Amino acid sequence: MAMMRLDKLLSDMGIASRSELRQIIKSGRVTVDGLAVNAPEKRIDSGKARITLDGQLLEYRKFRYFMMDKPSGVLSATEDSRQETLLDLLPPELKRLELFPVGRLDKDTSGLILLTNDGEFAHRVISPKSGIWKLYRARVDGRLDGEDVEAFEKGLVLGDGTACLPAKLELLPDGDCLVKVTEGKYHQVKRMLASRGAPVLMLRRLAIGGLQLDEKLGPGGFRELESRELELLFGQDALEK
Ligand code: URA
Repeated sequence: MAMMRLDKLLSDMGIASRSELRQIIKSGRVTVDGLAVNAPEKRIDSGKARITLDGQLLEYRKFRYFMMDKPSGVLSATEDSRQETLLDLLPPELKRLELFPVGRLDKDTSGLILLTNDGEFAHRVISPKSGIWKLYRARVDGRLDGEDVEAFEKGLVLGDGTACLPAKLELLPDGDCLVKVTEGKYHQVKRMLASRGAPVLMLRRLAIGGLQLDEKLGPGGFRELESRELELLFGQDALEK
């Protein structure tokens, strides 16, 4: 049983700030187990209480999971004194959830990034041991061919001796390529393509496991993941086959 103040619980849920919530609760818009509660300090059982706001049932979830279409030019960090970070793109009520990015994309890389407050989940997604593919679309300066596809398949060794796990390279008719990797070494995709004489001009992550970027979000757009989507992340299609 986790007893906590009603205003703290609603604030942890990202509903509004503590001071806004005090007003909301005092004005009688919140019910707990069917009864209006207008005392923000009222202690309730976060695991059991049925809470409504303006008649809508609220669900307490300790861990939250979001996808964002990271724009190029924004840092994959929680804070930075000079540069804009992903967390700066969130509204104040979500900033309170203490979300952090799952892994990193380079500043100039765009596309799918996950934000969560669940450290164990983040570790599972990132760890090469989980075997979850990350899919990128790249535009390169140079020509790639079947030999490059084979070299990716075998596992590249980069200029500094770094050995990469086998990866997939697919050449697209418009000249771009798709790269699928299960690990996330520093500048991995850029270094892999550069090692084949094709430096990257543009890089965008399209999918993590079976979870695809929702292209409707647009740069900087985000939304909470549905539980079905969390399953896709770790499902059979997400794994190296
Ligand atoms: N590989 C890279 O080189 N950069 C990224 O941002 C992600 C993967």
